[in-house]
Amino acid sequence: MLCDIQKGPVLWLKKLRLLSFQITIITSEQFGCLKNLKQLILSGNQITTVADFTFKELAKLRFLDLRNNKISQITENSFFGLHVLETLILEQNPLETIEAFAFIHLTLLKHICLGDFQPLPSELESSVNVNLTHIFGVFPQGLMHMNISSMWYTLNIIIGSNSTPKPGISLQLSATTVFFQDCWRPFFQSVVSLTAITERLLCGSHFAARYFTSLQYFGFNSVLSAEFVDMTDLNTLVEMRYLTLMGVELYRQPGLATMFHNLTKLETLNLVTCRILSLEEEMSRDLHSLRQMSVHIPEEFSVMESFTEPLTNLRYLLLYNFRLDCSCDNTWLLAWAERQPHVQVVFYHPGEADVTCKNENGIQNFARYSAANCSLDVGFVLFLCTSLGLLLFMLVVLLHQLAREYLLAFCHIIRCWLEEAVRRPNLRGRYCYDAFVSYSGSDERWVVEQLLPGLEQRGPPFLRLCLHSRDFQLGKDIVDNITDSLYGSRYTVCVVSRNYLRSNWCSLELRLATLRLLVEQRDILILVFLEDIPPLQLSAHHRLARLVKTRTYLDWPQDQAMQPAFWDRLWTKLVPPEPHPGQ
Ligand SMILES: *[C@@H]1O[C@H](CO)[C@@H](O)[C@H](O)[C@H]1NC(C)=O
Ligand SMILES: *[C@@H]1O[C@H](CO)[C@@H](O)[C@H](O)[C@H]1NC(C)=O
Repeated sequence: MLCDIQKGPVLWLKKLRLLSFQITIITSEQFGCLKNLKQLILSGNQITTVADFTFKELAKLRFLDLRNNKISQITENSFFGLHVLETLILEQNPLETIEAFAFIHLTLLKHICLGDFQPLPSELESSVNVNLTHIFGVFPQGLMHMNISSMWYTLNIIIGSNSTPKPGISLQLSATTVFFQDCWRPFFQSVVSLTAITERLLCGSHFAARYFTSLQYFGFNSVLSAEFVDMTDLNTLVEMRYLTLMGVELYRQPGLATMFHNLTKLETLNLVTCRILSLEEEMSRDLHSLRQMSVHIPEEFSVMESFTEPLTNLRYLLLYNFRLDCSCDNTWLLAWAERQPHVQVVFYHPGEADVTCKNENGIQNFARYSAANCSLDVGFVLFLCTSLGLLLFMLVVLLHQLAREYLLAFCHIIRCWLEEAVRRPNLRGRYCYDAFVSYSGSDERWVVEQLLPGLEQRGPPFLRLCLHSRDFQLGKDIVDNITDSLYGSRYTVCVVSRNYLRSNWCSLELRLATLRLLVEQRDILILVFLEDIPPLQLSAHHRLARLVKTRTYLDWPQDQAMQPAFWDRLWTKLVPPEPHPGQ
């Protein structure tokens, strides 16, 4: 009874602190004389009721702390007269009822802490409803901070009207689950800071964060066992600068990759006792402003190198009490941490000497794991190169030994092909001969006695034939001679006989001629059969057999009377087309 012993008002006392005094009841008589009191601290007592008009004389009181008492009921007039009160702390009281408009007198209120709300003992509810308009009437315009808790109960918060404090308010909530009933109210846009210590933060059935469109600071402190809520909406809070997620099973979030998108203003990100499998590039895409990041993930996880790439402003990275996946994906981390000039990277692992990793073989030293499994073995690479080199060398030698002629011919064909591609020439000028005659030496007599007079001496125009015995250049490689003559002639005439089939040179010539036929896709090959060759023998030479099937050919008639007609046909075929006028 402070005022009983005083004669008049006590003007000198500004601050009164009665901590843990076992006070049970407070009334207006107790404080009536303390006219200039600014701070009154009554925390840690046993106060059960705040009688009506208790503080009506304390017109200068700014700060009232009733924390940790037994107050369950607040009436309409409990705080009557506190016209300049800025801070009201009612935390840790078993609040059951707050009468309508109980705070309507507190027009200058800036900070208010209410809790812990409980259902009335008569109700078997596990949730409490808090209607803020019901308590406040209208929100004090200067309200900056509001703390509401219901500890072990579900908290249903009703804003109740479109009244709203000035923007910039910070809200702290703790309850098992927080439900907002009317998320469309302008109140939500005034909140810039939200701390929610609750398993779930819901509006209807979905995550409530997206209604706080001006949110800059968000701390969500959940528990890993909480029921799943999709939190992808976080990516709509584009004003966010500070984000702490605690006890969130991030790996269950279907939108994890896009959850941190759009957060271009985010400066601090803390992931504390969250579960995640891997920090991936896609997650950090928009986090250009991020300066600080701390990660505490109790189970083994991976960090992709690409995750850090968008983080151009990162200055401080703390990984503590963590264990990596034993995976070569993480090998970059240790070296990266060392060579960062602008980022201070701290690996904090009390109780363990080094960064560890875990896989099916248990826990290992990560540096040792990556040295053993992830570095490229130089010896092995050298061995591989040598083996491949040797193999290639052997292949070249083998190819040269086995297929030299074909290689040459092939080169020649390619050369001709290229030449032809470069300039589609005037065809007549390019050829030295009208026909290259491919024949066996044993048929030389027929060639000299029949073919030459039959073709070369008929005219005009007089045909020019190329015979190997007469026209091949001396001293030149024989294969070169064959290919040059073949390609230097407009046609190739193959004089086929049994001897021809037996000769290796003739077979090569035939092969080259068919290659040319294939490449140039032009009628350049003429077959002349000197004698009848039974189909059985012919079929052994499949190339020739195929040609015979697909092309017309000439048979040398033994009958003298038929021979002039034979030469006529052959000559007409070989004769060059009329040169165009002017050529
Ligand atoms: C909240 O309180 C206000 C003021 O008493 C009232 O008008 C409103 O209907 C209440 N809302 C709910 C959902 O109870
Ligand atoms: C944020 O990013 C996501 C995906 O990247 C996109 O679908 C969404 O529309 C964005 N939201 C805002 C508010 O920019």
